[in-house]
Amino acid sequence: MSKTNEKSSIPVVAASVLAADLAFLAHEVQDVVNGGAQWLHIDVMDGQFVPPITFGANIVAAIGKAVDIPLDVHLMIEQPENHIEAFAKAGANLITVHQEVSPHLHRTLSAIKDFGIQCGVAINPSTPAESIYPVLDLVDLVLVMTVNPGWGGQPFLPRCVSKIESLSQKRDEAGLGFYIEVDGGIQPDSASLCRAAGADVFVAGSYIFKAKDRKSAIGLLQDSISSDNMTSRIN
Ligand code: DX5
Ligand code: ZN
Repeated sequence: MSKTNEKSSIPVVAASVLAADLAFLAHEVQDVVNGGAQWLHIDVMDGQFVPPITFGANIVAAIGKAVDIPLDVHLMIEQPENHIEAFAKAGANLITVHQEVSPHLHRTLSAIKDFGIQCGVAINPSTPAESIYPVLDLVDLVLVMTVNPGWGGQPFLPRCVSKIESLSQKRDEAGLGFYIEVDGGIQPDSASLCRAAGADVFVAGSYIFKAKDRKSAIGLLQDSISSDNMTSRIN
């Protein structure tokens, strides 16, 4: 995905702004872009779907002024359909909504596409992959949460890997091209497990922003998911 709505070459490292030092937001996002992050992941939380409240559309617009890479907006909010327009106009290149809060998922995803940007659907650790099969032909991205959403710095949940495999298999069978993104507890070991299962986009917050040397940390993450280091798919 570029700013012009093309697909990015995979695998992609997306730095999650949630772990940045917000007192220095512009500097922080520029630093990880200079370190090699290909997308920025922006976690929007509403205090309802998940307990914390984080960023609004104004922050997405501010980040868009500071960097020129795709903005991947992850809406952890109830009634996301009421906020699509604001985030699209703020400069989101991709908006992801959660299956768990979207009874009219098809309509909400279509509304995102109507703004000429990419759309994604996210599933929590306890939500089965099959629950989103009916919309797979519509989405640009499936986000498999690898922690329960709400906070950075939680441990990766290995039980989610089998869902990545199922979605990857389904994608192959149906000849579809959506990205499979993983989010939560991602660092080189967990990323390489997810890559082997079929994931293409790797969101990392704490691992990148809390690293002493962010550029080296991003490099290690990229090495762990590069094709050269790929082990066989997990059975
Ligand atoms: C959690 C968020 C994640 C979070 C990941 O609800 O969706 O994007 O930033 O943080 P780490 O990489 O620290 O687990
Ligand atoms: Zn996220």
